[in-house]
Amino acid sequence: MAMLKVNGNSYFVDDTPDTPLLWVLRESMQLTGTKFGCGGGYCGCCTVHINGEAMRSCRIRLGDVEDAIITTIEGLDPGSNHPLQKAWQKEQVPQCGYCHSGQIMQAAALLADNENPTDEDIEITMRGNLCRCMTYVRVKKAIKTALEIKRGGKF
Ligand code: FES
Ligand code: FES
Repeated sequence: MAMLKVNGNSYFVDDTPDTPLLWVLRESMQLTGTKFGCGGGYCGCCTVHINGEAMRSCRIRLGDVEDAIITTIEGLDPGSNHPLQKAWQKEQVPQCGYCHSGQIMQAAALLADNENPTDEDIEITMRGNLCRCMTYVRVKKAIKTALEIKRGGKF
């Protein structure tokens, strides 16, 4: 039995220590906002925050995060009102939507660390999050809109 701290709550799970965190979240905790894409750390669909850092949950073992603070898309903001979530709606970013919890979690870690990211910062941060529907232009636009919202801008 392992104890995990996820989205401000403590969960006990009986998965083995080598179980990928992605499957603990999705199968044992039913936190299905975090998606499976490649399983190999290449696509970013499974991105969550571990101690505030954006990481690929498919490549992290349960046994390595028992003392960590984990945040998934469900816990990013209690009312789903994070500036990025508002911006994603305003810019109508998703197409099929599958990649976007990972995209938002990746961008959220950037905005938490950097109040004024350049275009290059955004591109470098987001280049590992793949979108088969090619929403990249809207993703970048929405991150900039989120920055405006963070600074008090209305939309
Ligand atoms: S499912 Fe984890 S990076 Fe693709
Ligand atoms: S919106 Fe379809 S994979 Fe990104």
